[in-house]
Amino acid sequence: MKQATDFFKMKQNQEPIVMLTAYDYPSAKLAEEAGVDMILVGDSLGMVVLGYDSTIPVTVDDMVHHTKAVKRGAKDTFIVTDMPFLSYHVSRSETLKNAARIIQEAGAHAVKVEGAKDVIYTISTLTEAGIPVVAHLGLTPQAVGVLGGYKVQGKDAESARQLIEDAKKCEQAGAIALVLECVPKQLGEEITNNLSIPTIGIGAGNKTDGQVLVYHDVISYGVDRVAKFVKQYTAVTEQIVNGLQSYVSEVKTRSFPEEKHMYSMKDEELSVLYG
Ligand code: KIV
Ligand code: NA
Repeated sequence: MKQATDFFKMKQNQEPIVMLTAYDYPSAKLAEEAGVDMILVGDSLGMVVLGYDSTIPVTVDDMVHHTKAVKRGAKDTFIVTDMPFLSYHVSRSETLKNAARIIQEAGAHAVKVEGAKDVIYTISTLTEAGIPVVAHLGLTPQAVGVLGGYKVQGKDAESARQLIEDAKKCEQAGAIALVLECVPKQLGEEITNNLSIPTIGIGAGNKTDGQVLVYHDVISYGVDRVAKFVKQYTAVTEQIVNGLQSYVSEVKTRSFPEEKHMYSMKDEELSVLYG
C-alpha cells in the first residue's frame, strides 16, 4: 500500500497521483481495482449518496460509517476521510476525539480538513497527536455559506497571494498533502511549485501533483449537473435506468422469471402438493 512517504516521492519523481472518492464497499473495491493511489471518503457523500444539497448536514457518525465500508472494499489503498462540518472547530479535545474516531474506530489513514487561519493550528495539533492530515484550500465547500456559493477562488492578485501563503502554512503545520479546489490553473501551478508536499487538484489545472474527482461524477451515476472541471468517463445512469425499466416491465408482463431462474421438485415428490 502506498503511504505518505510514497506520495512525497511521487511528487519528486513527477509521477501523477490519482485520488478518487469512494463511499461504500463496491465503490472502494472498484476504485482499488482500477489502480487509484488514494481514496477520499469525502463529505461530498452528503450530496451524492445521502441526497442533501450541501455537505453541511454530514456528521462524524456518517463519516465513520462510510469509512468502515470503504475499508472493507479497499484493504490495500491509502484512505483519507473528511472531517465533517464543525467537527474540527470545537475544543482541542473534542477535535482530537472526532479525528480519533475516524482513524481508530473507522480505520482511515489520514483526515482532511478545510481552510486556513485557526485550522492551521488544528493541522499541527492533529499532526502532533500522530494523525496524518490532508489540508484543503481554494473552494472549501463547508464554507459555502461564507463564500457565497461554489465559485472559483484566488482569481485576483490579493486572494491568490493569500492562498499561496495559506498553502505554505499548511505545509509548515505538518500537512502531508494539499487538496486545491477550483482555482485558476496558474495558481495551481504556483502553489505546487512552492510546496514540497504534494498538491491534489480538483479544478486546479494540470500542473498539480495529482488530481481528485468525485466517483459519481467520473462515471456519471445519479448526478444531474456537474462542474466545468469534471470529466465523465462513462455514463452508468442510463444503463441502470434501462436495466431497471426492463425488470419492471418483465415482471409486469410475466416474462420474468424464466424457467432457468426457477427451482423444481422431482415429479415423485409432487403428490404432497396435489394430495
Ligand atoms: O468531499 C469531497 O469529495 C472532496 C473532494 C471534492 C476534494 O472534498
Ligand atoms: Na469534502
